[in-house]
Order: sequence, then structure tokens, then C-alpha cells
Amino acid sequence: MKNPITHRALSLAIGTATLAMGMAANAQDAQIDRKVAELMKKMTVAEKVGQLHQLSGRQFTGPTSSAYADKLADIRAGKVGSMLNVKGVADTREIQALALQSRLKIPLLFSLDVIHGYQTVFPVPLGESASWDMEAIELSAHIAAKEAAAAGIHWTFAPMVDVARDPRWGRVMEGAGEDTYLGSRIAAARVHGFQGKQLGATDSVMATAKHFAAYGAAIAGRDYNAVDMSNQQLFETYLPPFKAAADAGAATFMNSFNTLNGVPATGNAFLQRDILKGAWKYKGFVVSDWGSVREMVPHGYAADLSDAAVKAINAGSDMDMEGYAYSQHLEAAVKTGKVKMATLDDAVRRILYKKFELGLFDDPYRYSDAAREKTVLGDVSHRAAALDVAQKSIVLLKNGNQLLPLSREARRIAVIGPLADSQRDLEGGWVVQGERAKVVSILEGMRSHAGKAEISYAQACAPGCTSNEGFADAVAKAAAADVVVLAIGETWDQSGEAKSRSDITLPGQQEALFNALKATGKPVVVVMLAGRPLVFNTIADQADAIVYAWFPGSEGGNAVANVLFGDYNPSAKLPITFPRSVGQIPLSYIQYNTGRPVTDEKNVVYKSAYIDSVNTPRYAFGHGLSYTEFKYSGMTLSSPLMNGAQKVTLSFDLANTGKVEGTEIVQLYLRDMVSSVVRPLKELKGFEKVRLKPGESRRISFTIDRDTLSFFNSQLTWGAEAGDFKLMVGSASDDIRLESTLKLN
Ligand code: NOJ
Repeated sequence: MKNPITHRALSLAIGTATLAMGMAANAQDAQIDRKVAELMKKMTVAEKVGQLHQLSGRQFTGPTSSAYADKLADIRAGKVGSMLNVKGVADTREIQALALQSRLKIPLLFSLDVIHGYQTVFPVPLGESASWDMEAIELSAHIAAKEAAAAGIHWTFAPMVDVARDPRWGRVMEGAGEDTYLGSRIAAARVHGFQGKQLGATDSVMATAKHFAAYGAAIAGRDYNAVDMSNQQLFETYLPPFKAAADAGAATFMNSFNTLNGVPATGNAFLQRDILKGAWKYKGFVVSDWGSVREMVPHGYAADLSDAAVKAINAGSDMDMEGYAYSQHLEAAVKTGKVKMATLDDAVRRILYKKFELGLFDDPYRYSDAAREKTVLGDVSHRAAALDVAQKSIVLLKNGNQLLPLSREARRIAVIGPLADSQRDLEGGWVVQGERAKVVSILEGMRSHAGKAEISYAQACAPGCTSNEGFADAVAKAAAADVVVLAIGETWDQSGEAKSRSDITLPGQQEALFNALKATGKPVVVVMLAGRPLVFNTIADQADAIVYAWFPGSEGGNAVANVLFGDYNPSAKLPITFPRSVGQIPLSYIQYNTGRPVTDEKNVVYKSAYIDSVNTPRYAFGHGLSYTEFKYSGMTLSSPLMNGAQKVTLSFDLANTGKVEGTEIVQLYLRDMVSSVVRPLKELKGFEKVRLKPGESRRISFTIDRDTLSFFNSQLTWGAEAGDFKLMVGSASDDIRLESTLKLN
């Protein structure tokens, strides 16, 4: 199989990066460059600074509220370049009209956190990532863009491409999980989805690769915390998804709240000037995170707001989101020479370029069309797509005695739990325009798919589950049923920004509820909702079946019901490791052998181990079951030796040996056995989703080239070293079915 993103494209080596959008300007680029230059000749320093000032409209009660008269006056005076949190055709038109009263009539950019849908809510990004389905992920982003772009939005603050290996960090929900390769593929798919075929088409919005960089490695999983890591780790693990987003054409980048090795990302010239705009030749612009310019003062990196403004722009941060540092201090800093005019001009040029590219100078209202807003937001095909992605995202973690799928024959199913009839919790965080009343709850989905089966319901406790008063009723319903479906997990607001948790076990009394139901002796199917991996050892041991549904979105209840009744055969695989305890965190499948590897779990004395826990996770990266079974066999290499730029093809047979049609996500891992920098025991290097009918088999191939075998050495040079490589193919990172050795000369 040919990977859409080659390993070469993931290469970050300074000086070797190839960035299509940074290449010699074509005719259209040159034309825009000329228009930008002409406009900039007319601009005062104050007007230039205005383009770098981004203001939030969240507090505006109605766009022309008199309480914000000063801000509205700033817009009219050309002192604002962009607004966030103003949405809808009516409001964006009204605010844009104010900008058009300014001297130079430069239109505003409207931006918003359209993270997993605008009106149609798709699964949270971590959930979607469990689908490993690039087409579905791209379509989800595209529908979100289409809806947002019909409602006046030009620009979304997505995708978040931060690799995240610490589930205490609430924002694992917003990304693609722990793996660099998978994360890079998903980053590109999301950018393509949001931006569509061409920037400026009214079914697309500008994407933002965020948060540049390494925000996902906040110490101890505490949000906004410092990050400290080697450049090796930065280049190898955290930067490639950003590079993939840039290569896919991401129009903008957002920097981050964290420090990286002592320097705030917002004031970090190494990240923004040397790597992004230097080595990668990135032509888009960088927006700060909310107030992150200002936050360099409490970090202890800038003496005051004026110093923060100087440090941020000089380091390559182009637009100041709600920081008021640029708006209040940049003009003076240019006068005193602390900021060169050329630096200011470069930032302004990048932003104006995008405004021209979007066509806003030709028609400032081209995204704010009331008729289009109505039609696009009413498009029923969007719900069908949301259902498709949600089904593809649900991971079957356990299926004891093949309890699932449930039969629809005459029997009683008790649907129980604080999240069973919740609509809000199915949406997850970052919902901007969701139609809550139309969200299909799990109970509603089960009822409408039940056929002859009879559904009873007990909530048992409210979301959060702080009281056990309703347990007796739930136990009675369970006792009267043939099977129990228990919907538990996190509420929508327990994952996300500023939602770090030091204890990631099930909140409240939900485990006690499970125990009470299990004590009835009835089989219990647990449907778990969450934005992160949770720790639930008792349930993992004792539940009869477990499906992990994340926060599945508007169609969540239908998706869960389709999986439970077998109308959809689950195919998702975990994009992030599930630990057994918080003490194992950070834990990912990227592990090193160490000098003292555990070879026998029963004897770990003086081995790299815990005396109170095994090293292995509860559920490994790549794990996910199906209602059918797949057999892997007959692995061959086109050659056991690889010379120079030669490519080697790895092939094997995959057969569906079960009774129903199903989709397997086959995974290719690799280990470089001896190298100048020690390599992990396994690294994901490829995957493919294969759909097979019962009894059908297919020969699957992966192409391995030098890039597949390459890594960053201690000089941060990307390359492959001669020697042996172990190639592994399997169904999960802990379920390797076939192995072979390749020698690189
Ligand atoms: C802060 C978050 O870190 C960022 O991801 C988001 O885009 C901005 N707020 C704007 O809402």
C-alpha cells in the first residue's frame, strides 16, 4: 500500500523540508503579493498594528451592545484585524459592516473553535481518531467547515495536533492521541477537510494547527504547565504532526500557553522563526493562544505587557488573541526601535495575504449569506455522516462469551445509568451551535432499534453520580431484565481545556452502581462515555462486555445501538493507551527495552518494573475487537536486504475467519535493533483498514523505504542506519501476529 503521507513528508530535518505552499510563488500568489504591498503602502503604523489585534465577541450581548461601545469603536477605527466568538450570518454581517466604516475598509476575519462540528456534532476528535479512517475524518472536518462557513466563519481553531500521552490532561480529548505517525496522518486529513479544495471556496474555512508546540507534554498532565523535553523528543514525537499540517496547507498556526525548556512557546523564536517560518518556509500566520502574549508576564519571561508584546512579535507570533499587548504597545515599540518595521510588516503581510486569498476584499460578506446558512445547516446528509463516523469510532474493548451483539428477539433489556438518557453528555466539549434537543440519547437509540425486545430504563443517579438513592430502582429493573446496558463515564465537562484530573477513575459512585447491578447475576454490557482513557479495573475484569463510545456526538445513541445490536460491526482501535493506574502514567506503547527488561513477570527483582503493578497497560494502543475474527498468515518480503534507495514490499494474507462481515485495521510496526540513538521496541509505520466478507481473504502489502527506517540522530539529522530491523504486523500493538527481519546495507 502506498501511504498518502510518505515518511519523507514527515521529515523535519532543518534544511531538508519541502513545503509545497512555500515554494516559488505562482501567478496568483504574485498577484496577491502585489495587492498586499499596495495596501500596506497606504497603512499607518496604528492601522498595521490593528491587523494583529484579535478581539473576542463572546461578551457582546448582541453584536452592537452599547456595553462594548469602545470595542465597536475600535473596529470602526480599523484597530481590530479579527474577531473570535462572533458567529451566524446576522451577527457577522453586522460586525463586518463596522469594519467597513474604517478608513481603509479592511474586512475582519471571523474565527471560532469549530472542533468537532458546527451544528451537526461529530464525535470528539480523540473518538474520531479511533476510527483510523482518513476519509471519514476528512469528511467530518469538511462538513464542520461547510456549516461554519455558511454561518459567517472564515477560520477555525482546529485541528489540535498535539501528541498526548498523559490522560490526566483533559485536552487529550481534542487531539489524535499518543502516536506521531497516526497523528500526522490525521492532522493532514483534518486540514484537507477544513480547507477543502481551495481556500476561499465558501464550503471551506482556514485551519489552524495548534498548539505550537509540545503543549501535550505538560508536566504531570496539569493544563498550562511547563514542558521540558530534549530536542530529540521534540523533533521525533511532537513536531511531525505540525509538519504534516503545514505540508497539507494549514493556513494558520496557533502557539501555546506552555513554556518549552524555559521559554514560553509564544515568545519562542526557535519554534516560530527557526523551525516554522525558517526551515519549514511556512507562509501562513501564527496566532497566539488566548492571552498567551500577556501570560509571558506571570511566566516570568516578560517584565510587563509592553515587554511581552516586543518578545512575542520578535519571536514570530503574528496575531495577539485577546492579549491587548500588541494593541496597547506595538506602535510605541516600533517607534523606539524595539520592534523593526520589517518585523511588523511581515506579520501584517501574512494576515492580509489570507484576507485576499479568502476573497474578502472582493466581497467582505461572501461567507455571510442568509440563504446559504439556512440550506447548509438544514442538510440532512450531515447527520448521516455523523452517524457513520460515530459508529466507526466506538471501540469494542471486551466481549465475554460473545455477549454482543444483542439479539432483538423478545427479551427484556434494562438500559440504566446516569448517561443513558443524557443528550448534553453525548456532545462533549466545544459545542458551538449544536441542536441539543435533536441529539439522540443512548436510551432513544436503543428504543428505536430494539425490534421485538422490550426496553426498561432507570437513571440510577444524575450525571456525576453523587447519590445512590436511585440504585434500588435500577437494581430492580436489572433483576427483571435478561441483560443490562449500563451507560456511565465522564460528563461532557470533565474532559477538555482546564479539565486535568489527578484521579482518572470513574467519577462519583458509578463503580458502586456497576457492582450493585452485577450482583443481580444478569449480564452487564457497559457503554462508557469519556473524553480520555479512564481507569476502571473492576469493570474491566467483571463486566461481560465493554464498548468505549467517547463523546459520540449528535447521532451517538443511534451509533451505540447499531453497535450493540450488530447492525454495525465494530472496527475502531484505540489511538491512546489505557493505563491500569495513574501511577503508570505517562504510558504509551512507545517503550524502550532498557538494560534490564522484564523477561518473566514473576521475577522482576532489579528489573525495570514496579513491585506493585505489571508494566503492561489495561488496553494497549491499537486494541479493538470485532464481532468476527481475522487470521494473519504468509508474510513475505520482496527482499530480506535493502540497498540504497531500494524499496521493499512486505505482504501477508488477511482472512475473515468468522461468521460476519467485518473491518480490520492492520498495523505495521518496526524496531531498529541497534542504532546510534536507542529506538523504541515498536513504532507504528503504517496501517490499512480492510473490509472482508466471512470466508474472504486478501493479500495486503506495505512499501518500506529508507524513510520508513529513518529517525533523528543526536545531531537531529534524519536518516537510516545500516543494520537489522524487526518488522511486525498485527491487530494491536500488543497483538503482533507476524514478524520478519529486514537488513539495511
Ligand atoms: C484557548 C485554547 O487553548 C485554544 O485551543 C482555543 O482555540 C482558544 N482558547 C480560543 O477559544
